Amino acid sequence: LTVLVIALIFGYLLGSIPSGVIITRMAGLGDVRNIGSGNIGATNVLRTGRKGLAALTLLGDALKGAVAVLLAAWYAPDAALLAGFGAFLGHLFPVWLGFKGGKGVATYLGVLIALALPGALAFAVVWLLVAFTTKYSSLAALVAAVAVPIVLWILGAPYVAGLFALLTIFVFFKHRTNITRLMAGTESRIGNKG
Ligand code: G3P
Repeated sequence: LTVLVIALIFGYLLGSIPSGVIITRMAGLGDVRNIGSGNIGATNVLRTGRKGLAALTLLGDALKGAVAVLLAAWYAPDAALLAGFGAFLGHLFPVWLGFKGGKGVATYLGVLIALALPGALAFAVVWLLVAFTTKYSSLAALVAAVAVPIVLWILGAPYVAGLFALLTIFVFFKHRTNITRLMAGTESRIGNKG
């Protein structure tokens, strides 16, 4: 039990490092929470016009999820799922930002890459398809996050599918203002500054 609790806390601390906030501050752009949607993720960093910084944010937020899982798997394989869950929760509710964190998409993908690569490929394909056809990052993430648990279930990984079904519920909860904007037709598209 102690190992599982430590994995959860370790994952949480790693996941709570807000790449987007750190990267935009270091680049002299101020706090990313003051621009666009106010979110700390790569999509919102892209609204600064700095593609490289957005890519770095995506990488940082995905990497912390993957690293949490892989390090836990190395020390205690049974704790890998919990470490990934912790990292995801850390990104969503980081203690450093008063528990107001990101929407979880990049970290979701990072945890998925480490736990089930085929699921991550499914996520990437669906995300890219929806993003290229609609130019909505949020919609792409929502559709991809619905596809993932289904794909994992079909692939015969029920525990990982269960974990990602739970993470998908969190992703939807965190995107509730995006969902309202999508339904109202006012969601900002990739490439727009709003
Ligand atoms: O990955 C987050 C994205 O789905 C939405 O970000 O900044 O448009 O709310 P944003």
